[in-house]
Amino acid sequence: MSKPRVLSGIQPTNGSFHLGNYLGAVKQWVELQESHDAFYCVVDLHALTSSPDPKELRQNTLVSVAQLLALGVDPEHCTLFIQSHVAEHNQLGWVMECLTGFGEASRMTQFKDKSQKIENDRIGVGVFTYPMLMAADILLYQADQVPVGEDQRQHIELTRDLATRFNSQYGKTFRIPEGYILKEGAKIYDLQDPTSKMSKSAESASGLIELLDAPEINTKKIKSAVTDTGREVRFDVAQKPGISNLLTIYSTLSGRSVAEIENEFDGKGYGDFKGAVAEVVVEYLRPVRTKTLELLGDPGHLNAILRVGADKASAVASKTLSDVYERIGLLARG
Ligand code: TYM
Repeated sequence: MSKPRVLSGIQPTNGSFHLGNYLGAVKQWVELQESHDAFYCVVDLHALTSSPDPKELRQNTLVSVAQLLALGVDPEHCTLFIQSHVAEHNQLGWVMECLTGFGEASRMTQFKDKSQKIENDRIGVGVFTYPMLMAADILLYQADQVPVGEDQRQHIELTRDLATRFNSQYGKTFRIPEGYILKEGAKIYDLQDPTSKMSKSAESASGLIELLDAPEINTKKIKSAVTDTGREVRFDVAQKPGISNLLTIYSTLSGRSVAEIENEFDGKGYGDFKGAVAEVVVEYLRPVRTKTLELLGDPGHLNAILRVGADKASAVASKTLSDVYERIGLLARG
């Protein structure tokens, strides 16, 4: 029997990924690539919605690829590629846009949040159509599962709705994908504002742990993380959001249970605990940073991996797209 398929994507927006990206998604990518037929892409087209500087976008895309490899994504065990290298993403994206209701797209919370922050004339239509391109990313590969963080749940729901709608209108074409969203780590919070998710678009970077930052910077950020009144190291999201977030980070990176860690710090203060979290994070990331920099020294090697990935991805994507075009009545080129 063939392995179930997974697909996921990550934006190359900032160069360095942050701890939320890793714990919410990439850690699962690495685990799933052994047991699944895995397709992972750096979604450079999605990154265009934030109008990046062209030179930076190109460089950040390579940095993203190097980081994924350094974190354990293995091109021998998965298909790793760049979204824009496979033109079918845009082509199916348009079909998805034609299938989506205006109201349905307007209800996407990420779009609503962004459009509240930016005035109408300055927000690109790409921010609005973003989830339809994401649906195309997933459906092109007939993915069974999509490993992502909690913030992508609504986009996966939309993808399922669109796939179901297409299948009932034109005949069964798409597999209906499911989100693969873990309980622990699916939402890592900002260290300075532990009720908001850790995000590269946060107003201040002081609550953001970037994987490629120098160890001293990350140590300092963790030691100055906002905690709560009291002294007890205990997991309680309502009363102790800051400590609970740090416990999640510690537990997922060390592989130890939250209860075990609570026991270890029983009777000790927040200072000791934060010092221990900083050490686990910094030691975990040290080899990732070194390996990323080493891989970036050989862009030829990265490009070769991406070429193979794009060929493998195109083979699957072109088959799905030609089925879709046929079903919806586009006349084949003679
Ligand atoms: P992006 O690039 O914003 O984030 C990449 C992944 O990181 C997860 N994530 C988090 N998880 C836990 N805690 C956090 N604070 C946190 N912040 C981010 C995200 O949930 C995501 O899994 N739309 C997607 C990219 C995308 C995609 C796709 C994903 C495009 N096409 C197809 C899956 C399948 C996004 O912007 O992710």
